[in-house]
Amino acid sequence: MSLLSLRVDPDPVLCRPAQPVARVDEEIRRLAQDMIETMYANDGIGLAAPQVGRDLQLFVASPTRERGRELVVVNPVLEAARGRNSIVEGCLSVPQVWEKVPRATWVRLRGLDGTGTPFALETEGLLAIVLQHETDHLQGRLFLDRLPWWHRRRLPRLTRRRACA
Ligand code: NI
Repeated sequence: MSLLSLRVDPDPVLCRPAQPVARVDEEIRRLAQDMIETMYANDGIGLAAPQVGRDLQLFVASPTRERGRELVVVNPVLEAARGRNSIVEGCLSVPQVWEKVPRATWVRLRGLDGTGTPFALETEGLLAIVLQHETDHLQGRLFLDRLPWWHRRRLPRLTRRRACA
């Protein structure tokens, strides 16, 4: 296993919708394991493939930070979302910035797991927020893009100006 280097805003790979994974093979499984190690090494609870420079619809998450309980999600689709929730979020691609982001409370997500098996997950709380944050990454969106304009205006200029904006 190896640690991967993180891409940081304004890297253009963070702006593009990622490509669907054609097949969950050994290479994808290895990438997911490396992403899990990289996420833990950087004290993250989620990490999407574009954040390590890979243009693929893949993310890993571990809101409880429990070893062996990580979620590997391939080609995710957020099918439904309900309610309003917000917590202070950070992102490994946006260092030193923490902001309260409007999100849904409850989501239903469909995708493939780390073995390529289809699954659907209905969840709320922190996991629901992580799923929304990571799915956003795969659409080329950062949590900064979810902030209301009056809130974005207060951010430092460099944080506000994204390469893809
Ligand atoms: Ni992030």
